[in-house]
Amino acid sequence: MKQQLEAIKLAAVEAINTASDEKAIEEIRVKYLGKKGELTAILKQMGSLSPEERPVMGQLVNEAKQSVEELIAEKKAELSAAATLQKLKDETIDITMPAKTAKVGKIHPLNSVLDDMIDIFQSMGFDVVDGPEVETDYYNFECLNVPADHPARDMQDTFYLGENLLLRTQTSAAQIRTMETRKPPIRVICPGRVYRADEVDATHSPVFHQIEGLVVDKGITMCDLKGVLEQFAHEIYGKDTKVKFRPSFFPFTEPSVEVDVSCSECGGKGCRVCKGSGWIEILGAGMVHPSVLKCCGIDPEEYSGFAFGIGLDRLTTTRYKISDIRLLFENDKRFLEQF
Ligand code: PHE
Repeated sequence: MKQQLEAIKLAAVEAINTASDEKAIEEIRVKYLGKKGELTAILKQMGSLSPEERPVMGQLVNEAKQSVEELIAEKKAELSAAATLQKLKDETIDITMPAKTAKVGKIHPLNSVLDDMIDIFQSMGFDVVDGPEVETDYYNFECLNVPADHPARDMQDTFYLGENLLLRTQTSAAQIRTMETRKPPIRVICPGRVYRADEVDATHSPVFHQIEGLVVDKGITMCDLKGVLEQFAHEIYGKDTKVKFRPSFFPFTEPSVEVDVSCSECGGKGCRVCKGSGWIEILGAGMVHPSVLKCCGIDPEEYSGFAFGIGLDRLTTTRYKISDIRLLFENDKRFLEQF
């Protein structure tokens, strides 16, 4: 029995020494010290011993149990310390790694120029109105004094969606809608997208943006138009900007003008931006044609008005020195991030 005890103890020590994790140690504990464990079982054989041998043997078994218990506790502590170390090692965070940065959206350059323009015109008392991009022939042409055989209706310029339906070629369509629904005095701007069947290149796009302006009241003259546009040019390009009115033609205004501003890049000396001329054309304008007022039910004897149409894309490309208009429509993040 003594030999048996020795053998069990040896086997237990050996097993403890080679155990590699806490689970294995627990299995060893159950195997030797558990209710049905080998060292427990040996105690049950004590009945077969003589009364003198029993206490001796009992003491030996208890000593063996105790030392196995101690070894197990030691090994357990050792293994759990190692496990903690390993866990710490596995979960180490490398604080020198570059962080993931969240990209934040920016305001599109077209929108930031538009926001500035809306501020300028609102400070002069203009309302902002909206109009549909799909228009009827009547609003886009007919009521704007563009007769049916006018070249502006040519299939090459206009995207027709049906007999009478088209993509508006100019925000001037919104003038008519405004005059139909509002009574003078009228002072509105209508920013929006317009469409023309143009070839795409660095300065042309089949979709672009205009801001229409319209003022109708008693006694409105060309001087009011000049004053408003000069004020606008000074606010957007700076106080020293010169404004030039050139005679022009639009079917819905009489007289009509095209408006140039002195080049903000070279101050009028001539450079790449203004193609050497010193001037940049920014808009078309004029006094609202009496036929247009009449078409909208406004008496041209009593009222007069002026209108202008500003190209937003040109304004944006010159302000930010953008060399190609297509960049405004491609939504390339590398481009948009720069503003
Ligand atoms: N609608 C004209 C264009 O697209 C611009 C314009 C607007 C001219 C208002 C005069 C008055 O070219």
